[in-house]
Amino acid sequence: MNIQQNVALKTFNTLGVNAFAEYMTQVSSIDALKEVIEYASDSNLPIKVLGGGSNVVLANEVSGLVLQYTNDSLEMLSEDEEYVLVRVGAGLNWHEWVMSSLSKGWFGLQNLAYIPGLVGAAPVQNIGAYGVEVKSVIRLVRGVMLDTGEEFELSNEACQFAYRESIFKHELNEKVLITSVDFRLSKTPQVDVSYAPLDQMAKEQGMPTPLTLANWVIEVRKSKLPSPDILPNAGSFFKNPVITFQQFDRLSEQFDHVPSYPQKEGVKVPAGWLIDQMGFKGKSFGPVSVHKQQALVLINEGGSGEDVLAAAQQIKQAVFDRYGIAIEQEPRIFQ
Ligand code: EPU
Repeated sequence: MNIQQNVALKTFNTLGVNAFAEYMTQVSSIDALKEVIEYASDSNLPIKVLGGGSNVVLANEVSGLVLQYTNDSLEMLSEDEEYVLVRVGAGLNWHEWVMSSLSKGWFGLQNLAYIPGLVGAAPVQNIGAYGVEVKSVIRLVRGVMLDTGEEFELSNEACQFAYRESIFKHELNEKVLITSVDFRLSKTPQVDVSYAPLDQMAKEQGMPTPLTLANWVIEVRKSKLPSPDILPNAGSFFKNPVITFQQFDRLSEQFDHVPSYPQKEGVKVPAGWLIDQMGFKGKSFGPVSVHKQQALVLINEGGSGEDVLAAAQQIKQAVFDRYGIAIEQEPRIFQ
């Protein structure tokens, strides 16, 4: 066991917050994980699981033991004419997994190309982009309980997936570490171009292969979302709110062409659009600013986690004052 003390976390979070972990360790096997859990329990150290750090806001001092699981194995569980079932280690880089699945002729992940983070984080917030959510291809999530070291597995149903939601953000929040995810992928090339900009590209260039679609997604993401290496950020900072039909009607009286995605219980409107309409693109809140190209993204230039949360709070308040709509933040607070 290699446990380090007072570890700088700046390079472990894409917002570039200059935080420190009281203790930190990385492990790559379930046996080693169990040893660490036992040690932490004996030493009374709370375990804080950190993934790729692309969806977290770090407090200055993270107390306890920061744990990263780095297993990036790939295991074929079963295969028939139509589908493969593959078990992927939680520590594999998400985009690398997407591209390697495509190169093997396994389809279903192409719309989710170029999302930062690790495989183990994908089920936590049910990552989604360009018309597809990861819940559509996840069969099973395996992990370890942080209090006992006991292993568990959860079926897709049991994960309680919803838009940017799962059981891992609620009942199991801070209680588990995900060790692997089982994906069921198709061997038949199939593409979903329902998302407007992709549909437009398909009309201009013809229906894409899954690999071409992944490349389109990479292109669109690169054009809208800044690279954290250049402009530190955590992707979408706010979730798109679902508002009531009445609220939507009121909004439509004030604005022409409100972008919207009707749901059963109301209408989902892009938080980025709401923020943009207030003229906030490029606006600074101390060291934190709203991205010039996508109002849903906050850029942190040297600020602390508190600075990021303070900026987010001001934006939430401004949205509420202007539209009467409450928006929630997407990244988790890590302290
Ligand atoms: N819009 C604006 N101004 C802005 C941003 C958006 O007017 O500054 C408008 C766009 O013109 C468009 C609509 O809002 O009509 C939606 O924008 P976009 O397609 O860029 O998507 P989004 O709702 O802003 C969501 C996800 C992204 C995902 C994209 C594509 C959430 C919180 N975000 O963003 O996810 O990549 O759709 O599917 O659901 C992430 O979670 O980190 C993330 C990047």
